[in-house]
Amino acid sequence: MTPAIQLTPVPPHQTLSLTPPPDLALQGRVRVPGDKSISHRSLMLGAIAEGETRIQGLLLGEDPRSTAACFGAMGVGISDLEGEWVTVQGVGLGQLQEPVDVLNAGNSGTTLRLMLGLLAAHPDRCFMVTGDQSLRSRPMGRVIEPLTQMGAQIWGRQGNRLAPLAVQGTQLRPIHYHSPVASAQVKSCLLLAGLMTAGATTVTEPSLSRDHSERMLRAFGADLSVDPDTCSVTIHGPAHLTGQTIIVPGDISSAAFWLVAAAITPGSDLVVENVGVNPTRTGILDALQAMEADITLENPRQVTGEPVADLRVRHSPLRAAQFGGDLIPRMIDEIPILAIAALFAKGTTQIRDAAELRVKECDRLAVMASQLTRLGARLEEQEDGLTIYGETTLRGNEVDSHGDHRIAMSLAIAALQAKGATHIHNADAATISYPSFTATLAHLCDLPMPSQA
Ligand code: S3P
Repeated sequence: MTPAIQLTPVPPHQTLSLTPPPDLALQGRVRVPGDKSISHRSLMLGAIAEGETRIQGLLLGEDPRSTAACFGAMGVGISDLEGEWVTVQGVGLGQLQEPVDVLNAGNSGTTLRLMLGLLAAHPDRCFMVTGDQSLRSRPMGRVIEPLTQMGAQIWGRQGNRLAPLAVQGTQLRPIHYHSPVASAQVKSCLLLAGLMTAGATTVTEPSLSRDHSERMLRAFGADLSVDPDTCSVTIHGPAHLTGQTIIVPGDISSAAFWLVAAAITPGSDLVVENVGVNPTRTGILDALQAMEADITLENPRQVTGEPVADLRVRHSPLRAAQFGGDLIPRMIDEIPILAIAALFAKGTTQIRDAAELRVKECDRLAVMASQLTRLGARLEEQEDGLTIYGETTLRGNEVDSHGDHRIAMSLAIAALQAKGATHIHNADAATISYPSFTATLAHLCDLPMPSQA
């Protein structure tokens, strides 16, 4: 018998082919891999702390692997990443070694931008850093400019705006930086530079971005104060960090694919267990609830300084809504999958103030518009968002992730609702943040695991 959904194994740069069954419903309980942002930070703070840091639930995606490789190349002892507990032997603040080769952050903006803050503050050491084709086209001026105000010496392509970059570490001076964008990467880069700089370094952002760095820096012993009214964070350097034990919660950005899949599939009743629900990350829950999705938080708890809950989602008819303003930074990575929910809502959904999506792993506004149009969706692209017409009937077709993990997975969820087969090229990009995505898709759709090529 031919399986209702056919999954072709996904070796590098291969295609995921999906044909949905008529009786698809997502039921039961599922777990998602560790939070990507918290995984990066636990490796980095562990690396520069004194003593050992122990991490459980580290995301084994390509992005945290890039962070581990970069810090390993600077003399940090990191245990086997596949182990249940990963241990990091911290070298202490200011003690990263000059690497003998170029540091490669791969596809990971978080690795490159956060690491730059640390490297720039290491006097008498020189570092070369680069990334893959996508990362080499992403804006680095947003961290290089404020670091330069602190006295950093950084050179890069196109007037010090693009990687590869060369960094001559030096003693920095503290500044108060008013960031034009709400970006946790910019904020965290400057806080890490401020850790090693005598005095008070302050970052003010236009609205609050994810605050994992602030929570974790405090837990490691940094002297940090937050003013929520002005969205400002101040770090007093130089700090003294001590290794910690960190249990990484499931990533709400990965959970979002199943939340939307269940919300739009009749008969679904699914619990996504152990998901981080830090309020700076739960914009997707607010957005889906505004669309009348049936999502409840069960068993709320605190795990090593981060709020965690199980998320229950049941299918319900969705209504279109308008999204913009301060909500956008709180769901910045979930907008591609929110767009899929909007395709099945009654009415016209508008997403605004989301121009940042143009400088993610790809131009997510342009690529979502072009690829969803190929599936028969009706949507319009604006400079800073999307207008999405609901109650669409999708038709399977050939689409491409453009090497972007969140686009690959969003297209797979859309394909579950399309008539006929959808072929997602470059679907292996999912391994950046969710290596077991295809296996979980097969499990939730009640199929045998696709064999690994
Ligand atoms: C991240 C911050 C966000 C987000 C990225 C992870 C982080 O980027 O999109 O996936 O871990 O700090 P920006 O700071 O560029 O918004």
